[in-house]
Amino acid sequence: MKKRILLGVTSGIAIYKTLDLVSMLVKNDYDVNVVMTENAKKLINPIIFETLSKNKVYTDVFYRDMDVEVKHIKLALNSDLIVLAPLTANTMAKIANGIADNLLTNIVLAHNKKMILVPSMNVNMLNNPITQRNIKQLEKDHIVMESDFGHLACGDYGKGKFPQAKRIFEQIESYFVDKDLQDKKVLIGCGATIENIDPVRYISNFSSGKMGNELALCAKRRGAIVTVVCGNVKSDYRDFGINYIDVKTNEQMYEQLNKYFNDTDILLMPAAPVDFKVKNKKDTKIKKIKDCKNYDPIEIEENIDILKNLTKNKKKQFVVGFAAETNSVKEYAISKLKDKNLNLIVANDVSNKNIGFNSDFNKVFIISKDEIKETEVLTKREIANKILDSIVEKKCL
Ligand code: PMT
Repeated sequence: MKKRILLGVTSGIAIYKTLDLVSMLVKNDYDVNVVMTENAKKLINPIIFETLSKNKVYTDVFYRDMDVEVKHIKLALNSDLIVLAPLTANTMAKIANGIADNLLTNIVLAHNKKMILVPSMNVNMLNNPITQRNIKQLEKDHIVMESDFGHLACGDYGKGKFPQAKRIFEQIESYFVDKDLQDKKVLIGCGATIENIDPVRYISNFSSGKMGNELALCAKRRGAIVTVVCGNVKSDYRDFGINYIDVKTNEQMYEQLNKYFNDTDILLMPAAPVDFKVKNKKDTKIKKIKDCKNYDPIEIEENIDILKNLTKNKKKQFVVGFAAETNSVKEYAISKLKDKNLNLIVANDVSNKNIGFNSDFNKVFIISKDEIKETEVLTKREIANKILDSIVEKKCL
């Protein structure tokens, strides 16, 4: 069944940005009911919200249409989540003090569940001790999102900017996920490393970091404190409260993972570190020459095995490795499980172009000492959740 979001809109100048949020929610199958304050209506016509949400917009507590129900109680009870965005200092102050003098504040008072609040205002209003006290008060019962930093509509520069719609959307998605990894420290090695040939050329592989990023997002949604040591790949999840540390080489990835490993509950290693490095790496760019025979051959040497070195100091950590294989997938994976001292290994067939490297899909074996589970072809987000389910099932946490 569709989740019902009640979106309370107050008269912040960022109100137009809420339109993006509404369409993002509707596209992702949420049922959105918008409630506007009278002042919000002066900034934007409710018809725009009605068109995007495909639902009537409510504004006045005394207005009655066909039904005789008490509207604010019905709206409060019928919603799975209330989000207030943008939330002005004025409405925030009312809510913090239990004042109910319009439809929106009446609904809020009648709704006894945790809400998501998105304050947005001038930096001086935000920093005012009264506003700060109100935020602290509201944080006891609700999720108060931190505003962004930057140029504000009034010309000032500082904190108070309305967050990007995708960050609010992520907070909403996360709200509905069970927090079975609450406060667990999850460390992830993600993406491809690179090893330089000269200052402008390198050896690497086709890992896109998608598997690692999906694991990070799912673990974060499930309540974990997530650190990603990220190779030479992109991520769309950098603003979602995940700690990203960028590295290039195997040595750097090892150094950063090792720094966090002692204090980690779960290490996940979908990274594809380069197995070789260049022995005769040049400090200056190799010049193009006509006859290829005159180039110095590139000599390679073995690179550090990050996982194997980390697990030498394994204590309480639950360690999950990955195995990228092209044949005898399960057999090779089982030998890596033992050799690398892992609790679990996730094996995928990287010879299949539709899954594995740089695809949004994968099909894996999740292998522990006593069990092998095989998945269908699923999205990497679904695979990530299956891996986290297996860790939770093992009850090693
Ligand atoms: O990033 P994507 O495009 O989403 O693709 C995902 C993936 C295919 C990269 C991922 O699912 C995967 O299979 N990751 C493991 C890649 C790999 O290096 O496999 P391996 O079998 O060579 O290594 C076994 C384990 O040792 C892995 O956990 C690997 O991170 C680790 N390793 C490998 C080499 C090395 N020098 N140091 C390591 O720590």
